[in-house]
Amino acid sequence: MALNVGRFIEEAIAEIGQQVKGKAVVGLSGGVDSSVCAVLASRALEDRLVPVYVDSGLMRQFESERIEEIFSHLGLVRVNAEDRFLNALHGIIDPEEKRKIVGETFIRVFEEEARKVGAEYLIQGTIYPDRIESEGGIKSHHNVGGLPLDMEFAGIIEPLRDLYKDEVREVARALDLPMEISERMPYPGPGLAVRIVGEINKEKLAVVRAANTIVEHELEEHNPWQAFAAVLGMGTGVKGDNRVYGWVVAVRAVSSRDAMTADVLELPWSVLRRISSRITGEIPNVSRVVYDLTPKPPGTIEFE
Ligand code: XMP
Repeated sequence: MALNVGRFIEEAIAEIGQQVKGKAVVGLSGGVDSSVCAVLASRALEDRLVPVYVDSGLMRQFESERIEEIFSHLGLVRVNAEDRFLNALHGIIDPEEKRKIVGETFIRVFEEEARKVGAEYLIQGTIYPDRIESEGGIKSHHNVGGLPLDMEFAGIIEPLRDLYKDEVREVARALDLPMEISERMPYPGPGLAVRIVGEINKEKLAVVRAANTIVEHELEEHNPWQAFAAVLGMGTGVKGDNRVYGWVVAVRAVSSRDAMTADVLELPWSVLRRISSRITGEIPNVSRVVYDLTPKPPGTIEFE
């Protein structure tokens, strides 16, 4: 059944108003889900809401600065927690462990911020497919199954828990969020941590961040559900007169409706070649670029 957007907005605002006693924090990442939540919550709670953006060091190029600009009118609090996340992730290679560490670190930061302002509630943008994948044991979404059990909050409120992504986008448009938010590609909570296969360090983060910028820019007009780059490992190559041992970057571009299944985009060869030559040309320590041909299933959208 089609979503009645106006009614959904009214009911969500009423529900948040009824559930929150005193103050709440909302985790705002700049994605469409959390942005919609933040706007609904701010309409319900006004100055009893504190939106918190955590810069985990796992975000894309210039993302933190842009989000700060867009949401400054909601009184956004930015917490720079890069070192904390990278220390917690040091030496971790298991994808599920990475997710749990990121989820736990986010929650601890939110708890600290909530304590500072005397807020007892956390509002977050979990949507229906997040719950299904976590409940079905497919993976721990950092904002569902990846959360620690011993949270300090009196209540967690998830106003979008029954919506699909395309419905959230409809709500975003109705709330007059800018297009760069309402039409934004999904981006995983654990961010670049799940786009680095194996151990995370600053060198790999710099490579994957630069490669993501190129892929997003080159593929914007192809309207992918998601398009991104990941660092897989190392391989040999030749640059100039030298044999080099550098990073292997995978490019992934998929279409989907709800992220539960996905198809590989059939991109023109010229586009793929351009992406490949830009990545190897502009990022010095990359030796080769591959295009991922795996639909979901059997692959997942992200690499970890
Ligand atoms: P996968 O890789 O499982 O991803 O096919 C399905 C969709 O979910 C996003 N994703 C996440 N989102 N926390 C999130 O908030 C996570 O831990 C997480 N892992 C994957 C992914 O980008 C895709 O849209």
